[in-house]
Amino acid sequence: MNCIIRPCTVKDCKVILQFIKEIAVHYRVPPTEVKVTLEGGIVGYVLSSFTYSTWKGRNLYVDNLYVQPQFRGQQIGKRLIEKAAQAAVAKGCGQLRMHIAKTNEMGFLARQGGQDLTAKEGWSLFHFKEDALRRLAARSKF
Ligand SMILES: CC(C)(COP(=O)(O)OP(=O)(O)OC[C@H]1O[C@@H](n2cnc3c(N)ncnc32)[C@H](O)[C@@H]1OP(=O)(O)O)[C@@H](O)C(=O)NCCC(=O)NCCS
Repeated sequence: MNCIIRPCTVKDCKVILQFIKEIAVHYRVPPTEVKVTLEGGIVGYVLSSFTYSTWKGRNLYVDNLYVQPQFRGQQIGKRLIEKAAQAAVAKGCGQLRMHIAKTNEMGFLARQGGQDLTAKEGWSLFHFKEDALRRLAARSKF
């Protein structure tokens, strides 16, 4: 039979856990003795992209930073944003920016050294929804 031998990835964790239970049965141990769970899987993420500032050049924009509630308070969020900062510096970014709702954890970002530009300089975030965007685009004569 042809088969492929390859390194495993996080996506394989579910099937690997199944195999761990199967090998327990192979050794005549009830699968309930297997105490490991999938909690070693992905419990949070940071999603970012590059933007460009006329003053500062390339910036990193963090769109999402999220840690599952049951895993919060274990320095995971901090490590995620530190990793994003490391990537930003490695790619020559002068700044890291993100927008968050006031109800979200603004204290977390302040704790990591971020500044609230709305409070400090009075910036507002403007948004053109798709209909407004299309109207604006339709007005362009060039
Ligand atoms: C914000 C979030 C990512 C923090 O993740 P976390 O893994 O719980 O945070 P950490 O354990 O890494 O916390 C790191 C430090 O920030 C502090 N901190 C965490 N949340 C905080 C908050 N809401 N306000 C103030 N400080 C906070 C911690 O006490 C810790 O302090 P320490 O360095 O003195 O120990 C998480 O709460 C989350 O996913 N929230 C919902 C999504 C969200 O709001 N995203 C936007 C985030 S800016």
